Amino acid sequence: MTESTLVLIKPDGVRRNLIGEIIRRCEQKGYTVAELKKIKPTRELLAQHYAEHEGKVFYEPLMEFMLSGDIVAIRLEGNRVIEGFRVLAGPTDPTTAAPGTIRGDLGRDWGTKVVQNLVHGSDSAESAARELSLWF
Ligand code: RTP
Ligand code: MG
Repeated sequence: MTESTLVLIKPDGVRRNLIGEIIRRCEQKGYTVAELKKIKPTRELLAQHYAEHEGKVFYEPLMEFMLSGDIVAIRLEGNRVIEGFRVLAGPTDPTTAAPGTIRGDLGRDWGTKVVQNLVHGSDSAESAARELSLWF
């Protein structure tokens, strides 16, 4: 069954002019950009989006980073796209993410308080449904 996931190009990806490169990788894999918008989210939206991380040491730096510039929100569509995009993105830490992944090829540690890793992708069907309803 076709499914959808929420992909966010985070402020570092937008600042570094990597919107096209990231979308290219999604499209070349065969997924479809079903909806897309560039926005500067409110703190309220981000608080809902990252509710699971509230109280963690990186929460406040994460919020500051995500509020630092424009974000591109994408509803990406295709069979098993939730799992597939997480593989395309690579693991959270760009230093150790494998080459071939978005984070591994395009990201690194910049010495910032919170890791800047270019993209977000929903981690389950439940998260995708919840997050897509927040952003679209
Ligand atoms: P995302 O939600 O953004 O797709 O990333 P993820 O699943 O790979 O990572 P998650 O655990 O959900 O964490 C969300 C974002 O918080 C920052 N983070 N920093 N230990 C740390 O310094 C740390 N852990 C998480 C990252 O920006 C991560 O993407
Ligand atoms: Mg996550």
